[in-house]
Amino acid sequence: MKKYSKTEKYDKNWINENWMGPNPLWLLEELCENLELHPGMKVLDMGCGKGLTSVFLAKEYGVTVFANDLWISATDNLRRFIDAGVADKVFPIHAEAHALPYADGFFDAAISIDSYEYFGADEIYFPCTYSKLVMPGGQFGIVVPGLKKEFDKGYPDTLKDFWAGDMFSFHSKSWWRRLWEKTGIVDIISCYDIDDPKEIWRPWADWALENFDKEWGEGGDTDDKFLRADINNDLALVAMTARKK
Ligand SMILES: C[S@@+](CC[C@H](N)C(=O)[O-])C[C@H]1O[C@@H](n2cnc3c(N)ncnc32)[C@H](O)[C@@H]1O
Repeated sequence: MKKYSKTEKYDKNWINENWMGPNPLWLLEELCENLELHPGMKVLDMGCGKGLTSVFLAKEYGVTVFANDLWISATDNLRRFIDAGVADKVFPIHAEAHALPYADGFFDAAISIDSYEYFGADEIYFPCTYSKLVMPGGQFGIVVPGLKKEFDKGYPDTLKDFWAGDMFSFHSKSWWRRLWEKTGIVDIISCYDIDDPKEIWRPWADWALENFDKEWGEGGDTDDKFLRADINNDLALVAMTARKK
């Protein structure tokens, strides 16, 4: 599997304590290969969870980050940003994706790691809400769990037992590309399946087997079962970046 050399500098225990899905720093490091980030830029980290990616953006690129999340409180995230020594550059915000407190055109870039699929997989969210947050010429980047291709039923037969609720937001790279491209608001810069998606996913699934239920109640074995059931390798991690016209 590819080496993510920037992520290697970060304490593995800190990552394991704070991740909420397949290693968000690997996914962000991959995404940043197709983004141009410079010190002083204002970046929205949408669905930042416990803020690992927000800390990474501030430390690696010197950008100012608005760390926006719904399930995790801003107060909890502030404590993590103070502990990480980035509280002067990373601002925790608790806000729902359809009721964001930001001015139109405020951000140089908006990124979202393993979150955009929860609120952005419809025809309306990007043109009517999300795209407005970024200034003309600004950038967008998402990494979402998905599928290598679209299926008539929405899912491959091998994964039928798992398909419920938010799983229906899993789509192919072509599907995601079209969702944004057809709006005419952005040029797509990159859109591809990240190599070795299940190798990237596996450490999180193993961690979840041991630890997930202690924090979240139940569901800790879902990712493990799901990865094992994917015998035809239909699961994907889709990375997409775009620039606003
Ligand atoms: C699977 S977690 C990923 C968190 C983090 N990016 C990571 O990889 O560790 C998905 C995140 O999306 C956020 N989210 C889901 N629905 C949302 C919504 N409607 N508005 C804002 N954030 C939302 C949740 O708060 C959650 O932290």
